[in-house]
Amino acid sequence: MAEIIVVASGKGGSGKSSFVSGVSRALAKMGKKVLAIDCDIGLRSLDLLFGVSESVVFDWGDIVLDRCSAEQAVIKAEIDLLAAPRSFSDGLTLEATAKVFKSFSDKYDYILLDSPAGIDRGFQLAACGADKAIVITTPDSVCVRSCARAFDELRRLGIEDTRLVINMFEVKPVCKKKLLNIDQCIDETGVQLLGIVPRDINVGFCSVTGTVPGEFSPSTLAYSRIAKRITGKRIPLVCE
Ligand SMILES: Nc1ncnc2c1ncn2[C@@H]1O[C@H](COP(=O)(O)OP(=O)(O)O)[C@@H](O)[C@H]1O
Ligand SMILES: [Mg+2]
Repeated sequence: MAEIIVVASGKGGSGKSSFVSGVSRALAKMGKKVLAIDCDIGLRSLDLLFGVSESVVFDWGDIVLDRCSAEQAVIKAEIDLLAAPRSFSDGLTLEATAKVFKSFSDKYDYILLDSPAGIDRGFQLAACGADKAIVITTPDSVCVRSCARAFDELRRLGIEDTRLVINMFEVKPVCKKKLLNIDQCIDETGVQLLGIVPRDINVGFCSVTGTVPGEFSPSTLAYSRIAKRITGKRIPLVCE
Protein backbone atom coordinates (compact mmCIF):
# COMPACT_ATOMS: atom_id res chain seq x y z
CA MET A 1 0.00 0.00 0.00
CA ALA A 2 1.30 3.44 -0.92
CA GLU A 3 2.09 6.09 1.63
CA ILE A 4 0.09 9.11 0.46
CA ILE A 5 1.84 12.38 1.30
CA VAL A 6 0.48 15.87 0.65
CA VAL A 7 3.06 18.63 0.13
CA ALA A 8 1.67 21.98 1.26
CA SER A 9 2.74 25.40 2.49
CA GLY A 10 -0.07 27.91 2.53
CA LYS A 11 1.97 30.42 0.55
CA GLY A 12 2.74 30.15 -3.17
CA GLY A 13 6.31 30.09 -4.48
CA SER A 14 7.80 28.27 -1.49
CA GLY A 15 8.94 25.37 -3.68
CA LYS A 16 6.22 22.71 -3.32
CA SER A 17 6.14 21.64 -6.97
CA SER A 18 9.94 21.67 -7.27
CA PHE A 19 10.09 19.57 -4.10
CA VAL A 20 7.53 17.06 -5.40
CA SER A 21 9.42 16.64 -8.67
CA GLY A 22 12.83 16.40 -6.95
CA VAL A 23 11.76 13.99 -4.21
CA SER A 24 9.70 11.85 -6.64
CA ARG A 25 12.80 11.44 -8.80
CA ALA A 26 14.94 10.62 -5.77
CA LEU A 27 12.44 8.00 -4.53
CA ALA A 28 12.27 6.47 -8.03
CA LYS A 29 16.06 6.30 -8.10
CA MET A 30 15.88 4.25 -4.91
CA GLY A 31 13.67 1.79 -6.77
CA LYS A 32 10.37 3.01 -5.32
CA LYS A 33 7.22 3.21 -7.43
CA VAL A 34 6.00 6.79 -7.30
CA LEU A 35 2.89 8.58 -8.51
CA ALA A 36 2.97 12.38 -8.46
CA ILE A 37 -0.44 14.08 -8.47
CA ASP A 38 -0.68 17.75 -9.37
CA CYS A 39 -3.49 19.25 -7.28
CA ASP A 40 -2.99 22.85 -8.37
CA ILE A 41 -6.30 23.15 -10.21
CA GLY A 42 -6.06 25.71 -13.02
CA LEU A 43 -2.34 26.35 -12.41
CA ARG A 44 -0.70 22.98 -12.94
CA SER A 45 3.07 22.81 -13.23
CA LEU A 46 4.31 19.26 -12.61
CA ASP A 47 3.82 18.34 -16.29
CA LEU A 48 6.29 21.13 -17.14
CA LEU A 49 8.74 20.12 -14.43
CA PHE A 50 8.69 16.54 -15.73
CA GLY A 51 8.89 17.75 -19.36
CA VAL A 52 5.65 15.98 -20.39
CA SER A 53 3.19 18.83 -20.97
CA GLU A 54 2.59 17.62 -24.56
CA SER A 55 1.35 14.29 -23.19
CA VAL A 56 -1.46 15.69 -21.03
CA VAL A 57 -4.80 14.58 -22.45
CA PHE A 58 -6.79 13.68 -19.35
CA ASP A 59 -6.37 14.69 -15.71
CA TRP A 60 -7.51 13.24 -12.38
CA GLY A 61 -10.68 15.35 -12.55
CA ASP A 62 -11.66 13.28 -15.60
CA ILE A 63 -11.36 10.11 -13.51
CA VAL A 64 -13.44 11.59 -10.67
CA LEU A 65 -16.11 12.74 -13.16
CA ASP A 66 -16.06 9.37 -14.98
CA ARG A 67 -14.82 10.77 -18.28
CA CYS A 68 -11.85 8.42 -18.58
CA SER A 69 -10.26 5.43 -16.92
CA ALA A 70 -7.40 5.65 -14.43
CA GLU A 71 -5.05 4.09 -17.01
CA GLN A 72 -5.93 6.76 -19.58
CA ALA A 73 -5.19 9.62 -17.18
CA VAL A 74 -1.84 8.45 -15.80
CA ILE A 75 1.04 9.88 -17.83
CA LYS A 76 3.78 7.26 -17.88
CA ALA A 77 7.12 9.02 -17.89
CA GLU A 78 10.19 9.13 -15.70
CA ILE A 79 7.65 9.36 -12.86
CA ASP A 80 3.99 8.43 -13.26
CA LEU A 81 1.99 11.64 -13.19
CA LEU A 82 -1.64 12.74 -12.89
CA ALA A 83 -2.15 16.27 -14.17
CA ALA A 84 -4.42 18.75 -12.39
CA PRO A 85 -7.84 19.66 -13.81
CA ARG A 86 -8.06 22.96 -15.70
CA SER A 87 -10.92 24.20 -13.51
CA PHE A 88 -13.02 23.36 -10.45
CA SER A 89 -16.39 21.70 -10.89
CA ASP A 90 -19.10 20.68 -8.42
CA GLY A 91 -18.43 16.99 -9.05
CA LEU A 92 -14.93 17.26 -7.56
CA THR A 93 -16.07 16.55 -4.02
CA LEU A 94 -13.64 15.69 -1.22
CA GLU A 95 -15.08 12.19 -0.91
CA ALA A 96 -14.94 11.34 -4.63
CA THR A 97 -11.46 12.82 -5.01
CA ALA A 98 -10.06 10.98 -1.97
CA LYS A 99 -11.53 7.74 -3.32
CA VAL A 100 -9.76 8.20 -6.67
CA PHE A 101 -6.40 9.11 -5.05
CA LYS A 102 -6.61 6.11 -2.71
CA SER A 103 -7.55 3.79 -5.58
CA PHE A 104 -3.91 4.05 -6.80
CA SER A 105 -2.56 2.88 -3.44
CA ASP A 106 -1.99 -0.74 -4.36
CA LYS A 107 0.10 0.14 -7.46
CA TYR A 108 2.65 2.47 -5.85
CA ASP A 109 4.99 2.78 -2.85
CA TYR A 110 4.56 6.56 -2.60
CA ILE A 111 1.93 8.97 -3.88
CA LEU A 112 2.96 12.63 -3.61
CA LEU A 113 0.19 15.23 -3.81
CA ASP A 114 1.33 18.70 -4.89
CA SER A 115 -0.99 21.15 -3.11
CA PRO A 116 -1.86 24.59 -4.47
CA ALA A 117 -1.22 27.75 -2.46
CA GLY A 118 -3.86 28.74 0.07
CA ILE A 119 -5.79 26.69 2.59
CA ASP A 120 -9.18 26.64 0.88
CA ARG A 121 -10.85 24.16 -1.46
CA GLY A 122 -7.87 23.20 -3.62
CA PHE A 123 -5.73 22.61 -0.54
CA GLN A 124 -8.53 20.55 1.04
CA LEU A 125 -8.86 18.43 -2.11
CA ALA A 126 -5.11 17.78 -2.04
CA ALA A 127 -5.17 16.88 1.66
CA CYS A 128 -8.33 14.77 1.63
CA GLY A 129 -6.68 11.57 0.44
CA ALA A 130 -3.41 11.93 2.37
CA ASP A 131 -2.07 9.93 5.33
CA LYS A 132 0.82 12.32 6.01
CA ALA A 133 1.94 15.83 5.13
CA ILE A 134 5.12 17.73 4.42
CA VAL A 135 4.93 21.50 4.81
CA ILE A 136 7.49 23.61 2.96
CA THR A 137 8.66 26.99 4.13
CA THR A 138 11.33 29.40 3.03
CA PRO A 139 13.27 30.97 5.95
CA ASP A 140 11.25 34.19 6.16
CA SER A 141 8.50 35.31 8.51
CA VAL A 142 5.68 35.51 5.95
CA CYS A 143 6.20 31.99 4.63
CA VAL A 144 6.75 30.55 8.11
CA ARG A 145 3.47 32.03 9.31
CA SER A 146 1.56 30.64 6.31
CA CYS A 147 3.18 27.27 6.91
CA ALA A 148 2.02 27.32 10.53
CA ARG A 149 -1.53 28.03 9.32
CA ALA A 150 -1.34 25.17 6.81
CA PHE A 151 -0.11 22.88 9.62
CA ASP A 152 -3.11 23.83 11.81
CA GLU A 153 -5.47 23.23 8.92
CA LEU A 154 -3.92 19.83 8.15
CA ARG A 155 -4.44 18.81 11.78
CA ARG A 156 -8.05 20.01 11.58
CA LEU A 157 -8.48 17.78 8.51
CA GLY A 158 -7.23 14.80 10.53
CA ILE A 159 -3.61 14.58 9.36
CA GLU A 160 -1.52 13.95 12.48
CA ASP A 161 1.87 13.23 10.89
CA THR A 162 3.35 16.42 9.42
CA ARG A 163 7.02 17.26 8.87
CA LEU A 164 8.76 20.49 7.91
CA VAL A 165 11.12 21.20 5.01
CA ILE A 166 13.01 24.48 4.90
CA ASN A 167 13.59 25.41 1.26
CA MET A 168 15.92 27.96 -0.37
CA PHE A 169 18.12 27.94 2.72
CA GLU A 170 21.24 30.11 2.56
CA VAL A 171 23.87 30.07 5.28
CA LYS A 172 25.31 33.60 4.86
CA PRO A 173 22.07 35.61 5.25
CA VAL A 174 21.07 33.37 8.16
CA CYS A 175 24.39 34.13 9.90
CA LYS A 176 23.80 37.84 9.26
CA LYS A 177 20.29 37.42 10.77
CA LYS A 178 18.69 38.45 7.47
CA LEU A 179 16.85 35.13 7.22
CA LEU A 180 15.33 33.03 9.98
CA ASN A 181 17.57 30.27 11.31
CA ILE A 182 16.58 26.60 11.49
CA ASP A 183 15.44 26.74 15.13
CA GLN A 184 13.30 29.81 14.46
CA CYS A 185 11.59 28.05 11.53
CA ILE A 186 10.90 24.98 13.69
CA ASP A 187 9.72 27.01 16.71
CA GLU A 188 7.47 29.33 14.72
CA THR A 189 5.82 26.60 12.64
CA GLY A 190 5.70 24.10 15.50
CA VAL A 191 6.55 21.29 13.08
CA GLN A 192 9.28 18.65 13.40
CA LEU A 193 12.04 19.04 10.81
CA LEU A 194 12.38 16.56 7.93
CA GLY A 195 15.07 18.33 5.95
CA ILE A 196 16.64 21.40 4.41
CA VAL A 197 16.97 22.25 0.72
CA PRO A 198 19.50 24.96 -0.16
CA ARG A 199 18.81 27.73 -2.64
CA ASP A 200 19.99 26.26 -5.94
CA ILE A 201 19.86 28.19 -9.17
CA ASN A 202 19.61 24.91 -11.13
CA VAL A 203 16.05 24.39 -9.86
CA GLY A 204 14.82 27.42 -11.78
CA PHE A 205 16.79 26.55 -14.94
CA CYS A 206 15.28 23.08 -14.99
CA SER A 207 11.72 24.38 -14.79
CA VAL A 208 12.45 26.17 -18.09
CA THR A 209 14.13 23.28 -19.86
CA GLY A 210 12.06 20.43 -18.34
CA THR A 211 15.35 18.73 -17.45
CA VAL A 212 16.77 17.50 -14.16
CA PRO A 213 19.30 19.40 -12.02
CA GLY A 214 22.66 17.58 -12.11
CA GLU A 215 23.27 14.53 -9.97
CA PHE A 216 25.57 16.51 -7.65
CA SER A 217 23.69 19.80 -7.62
CA PRO A 218 22.90 20.93 -4.05
CA SER A 219 19.13 20.53 -4.50
CA THR A 220 19.42 17.00 -5.97
CA LEU A 221 21.57 15.93 -3.01
CA ALA A 222 19.12 17.51 -0.56
CA TYR A 223 16.05 15.91 -2.20
CA SER A 224 17.86 12.58 -2.12
CA ARG A 225 18.60 12.90 1.64
CA ILE A 226 14.96 13.77 2.28
CA ALA A 227 13.72 10.85 0.13
CA LYS A 228 15.88 8.52 2.21
CA ARG A 229 14.40 9.92 5.43
CA ILE A 230 10.90 9.45 4.00
CA THR A 231 11.69 5.76 3.55
CA GLY A 232 12.78 5.56 7.20
CA LYS A 233 16.57 5.77 6.80
CA ARG A 234 18.60 7.75 9.34
CA ILE A 235 20.48 10.41 7.41
CA PRO A 236 22.43 13.30 8.99
CA LEU A 237 21.07 16.82 8.58
CA VAL A 238 23.11 18.94 6.19
CA CYS A 239 22.58 22.67 5.71
CA GLU A 240 25.17 24.05 3.35
N1 LIG B 1 15.70 25.20 -3.69
C1 LIG B 1 15.45 26.14 -4.60
N2 LIG B 1 16.42 26.98 -5.01
C2 LIG B 1 16.20 27.95 -5.92
N3 LIG B 1 15.00 28.18 -6.50
C3 LIG B 1 13.97 27.37 -6.13
C4 LIG B 1 14.13 26.32 -5.17
N4 LIG B 1 12.93 25.70 -5.01
C5 LIG B 1 12.07 26.33 -5.84
N5 LIG B 1 12.67 27.33 -6.52
C6 LIG B 1 12.09 28.27 -7.51
O1 LIG B 1 11.05 28.98 -6.84
C7 LIG B 1 9.95 29.20 -7.72
C8 LIG B 1 8.69 28.61 -7.11
O2 LIG B 1 8.86 27.20 -6.99
P1 LIG B 1 7.64 26.21 -7.09
O3 LIG B 1 8.18 24.85 -6.86
O4 LIG B 1 6.85 26.45 -8.33
O5 LIG B 1 6.79 26.70 -5.82
P2 LIG B 1 5.27 26.40 -5.43
O6 LIG B 1 4.88 25.12 -6.08
O7 LIG B 1 5.30 26.32 -3.92
O8 LIG B 1 4.47 27.56 -5.90
C9 LIG B 1 10.33 28.53 -9.05
O9 LIG B 1 10.85 29.54 -9.89
C10 LIG B 1 11.41 27.54 -8.67
O10 LIG B 1 12.32 27.31 -9.73
MG1 LIG C 1 3.28 24.64 -7.31
